[in-house]
Amino acid sequence: MTRKIVVGAFLLIGFLLINMNAVAAPPKVMITKVELGTVNPKMVNDGKGLYTSKCVACHDLDQKKIGPTLRNVTKERSPEYIMNVIYNTTKMQKNDPTFKGLVVKFKNVPMPDPNLTEAQSRSLLEYLRSVAK
Ligand code: HEC
Repeated sequence: MTRKIVVGAFLLIGFLLINMNAVAAPPKVMITKVELGTVNPKMVNDGKGLYTSKCVACHDLDQKKIGPTLRNVTKERSPEYIMNVIYNTTKMQKNDPTFKGLVVKFKNVPMPDPNLTEAQSRSLLEYLRSVAK
């Protein structure tokens, strides 16, 4: 009997925690404006770390892999586009004409949503700005 109550209490607490989390997580919105200043070295460093752990499997800066090369992506695309590719990958695959074109071209594996925060996505953008030639 007590065991059942204890198990029930745990289930209830678990359920409440999950619900609180769902409420606490802010909904992802599309990024419409990115302010660029001079390249920020701290963000570049963070972005480089993220790039090495989350992106190199598919993206080399200079050589085509599973995904396109990214050396000069900041010269070819807007910062908002790049941020949304990283932060709102699935929505971009559905709605953005440029990105949809790439999905067709790289039809082997569509880019998975890397599940990063907006700040992490911004650091990656900063890293990509720093490597452009
Ligand atoms: C599993 C492979 C994979 C991983 C991991 C991956 N990507 Fe991609 N990425 C792709 C593919 C494939 C495309 C082309 C579009 C498509 O098919 O979805 C792409 C497209 C892009 C583009 C658009 C390039 C352009 O010219 O418009 C950017 C920017 C990009 N990825 C950045 C990243 C970043 C940053 C990461 C790491 C957080 C990352 N990707 C992780 C596979 C990947």
